[in-house]
Amino acid sequence: MPTPFFPTTRFTAAIAPGGLPLLGHAPALLHRPHEFVAGLPAHGDLVRLRLGPLHAYVVCHPELVRRLLTDDHAFDKGGPLLDKTRETVGNGLATCPAAAHRRQRRMLQPAFHRDRLPDHAVMMAEEIAGATARWRDGDVIDVPAAMHRLTTAVTARCLFAVHERDGSLPVHRSMDVVARGAGRRVMLPLPGADRLPTPGNRRFRRARQDLREITRRLIADYRAAGTDRHDLLSTLLTATDGDGRCLSDAEIHEQVLTFLLSGVETTAATLSWAWTLLAANPAVRMRLHAELDTVLDGRPARHQDLPALPLTARIVSETLRLYPPPWILSRTATTDTELGGHRIPAGATLLYSPYLLHRRADLFPRPDRFDPDRWLTTARPAPGTYTPFGLGARRCIGESFGVTEAVLAIATIAARWTIAPTPGRPVRPGRGSSLSPRPFTATLTRRVR
Ligand code: HEM
Repeated sequence: MPTPFFPTTRFTAAIAPGGLPLLGHAPALLHRPHEFVAGLPAHGDLVRLRLGPLHAYVVCHPELVRRLLTDDHAFDKGGPLLDKTRETVGNGLATCPAAAHRRQRRMLQPAFHRDRLPDHAVMMAEEIAGATARWRDGDVIDVPAAMHRLTTAVTARCLFAVHERDGSLPVHRSMDVVARGAGRRVMLPLPGADRLPTPGNRRFRRARQDLREITRRLIADYRAAGTDRHDLLSTLLTATDGDGRCLSDAEIHEQVLTFLLSGVETTAATLSWAWTLLAANPAVRMRLHAELDTVLDGRPARHQDLPALPLTARIVSETLRLYPPPWILSRTATTDTELGGHRIPAGATLLYSPYLLHRRADLFPRPDRFDPDRWLTTARPAPGTYTPFGLGARRCIGESFGVTEAVLAIATIAARWTIAPTPGRPVRPGRGSSLSPRPFTATLTRRVR
């Protein structure tokens, strides 16, 4: 056990057991990532891993996670995964260093202001209705693909005010390829693999270029028309910093890619997991149906309904506890520092994992159980305990947007459909940086109220 910096610290540090020569813990992280990471708190509050030549500290204690995420001077965005994300989407809000962050966040915050949500919710409700309009009783669908199309359509609509019922506009196609490809490219193990002339890489680059062109044209149209279309692009165009400077077209494009990478897959994964959890828990599903029948009486959910849908909201919170989409995230120490009394050298990579925290039995009793009612208590979890949206200055800017979208989608869809995953094929998480389910099919049954 490394010597504590402050000998009196109550936080323990350890090296994770089971590291192999040369490879260290990389095989364990590659083959059974979620189980491996969730098992680390048994060894200490700060656990060191070796991933080939790289060392990383996994922060396992909520108090230390809180410090990691709120001390931007000592811990900045960084680490190998983030470096790759920067190569793919540039230096937008989610990837820029702390020095550039405050300006960007101030400029973009109005786009996600609470007052904008009712307008966004109208667009979300229409896209949700459109995405499910062609479903027929007995259809078998690929659930993650359907949810991805749905959240892409919602994001396209709220970003650019474009809509098309079947999601076949060029902007949808490019957004879908970029949103999927960006996540995959971040996980490519070989340096430079994202630059090889493979069909997937070519498709990704073409889609990113198409999206840049679409954004450029839309920006020109919006500037010429000069009207506020109540979408995110209108807000980005009028955003100014303290010196009255606007975002350049290139900066707007970076932010568009950032919203795509951050908002599409995360919300799609949440919805896909929610359907598997509801299918496996019929008692909760029946109570959900009762709530929806009372409140919606057969019509799609609207923004005004949200306060009357507390169980639907708890289902979203509990799904995000069990399956937080960004399940492992990184920071870099900007200076020689300490965490929990243990020395951290400048340049060290630190990891925090909402998945690990959410599966700690001392923080969430019977942690593997899907129990939306655990959120009935009025006591909020201590900071650093429940972190599906992160914490501190880099907390998710799209939290209310994503939660609203998820609640409206679950309410509208579950009121009319039951989604039953094909039996005999357990739904498993993929191995990417986002905790999304692997493709799985399900049968749709129209509900009779
Ligand atoms: C259920 C849905 C979502 C989840 C679980 C989620 C989760 C997160 C998490 C954990 C972070 C913090 C990352 C870190 O600490 O390094 C984050 C940041 C961010 N998210 Fe989300 N997100 C969701 C939806 C969205 C949506 C819909 C958007 C935009 C349309 C969005 C945009 C962003 C951006 C731009 C950041 C960077 C914020 C900053 O650094 O200031 N997210 N998100």
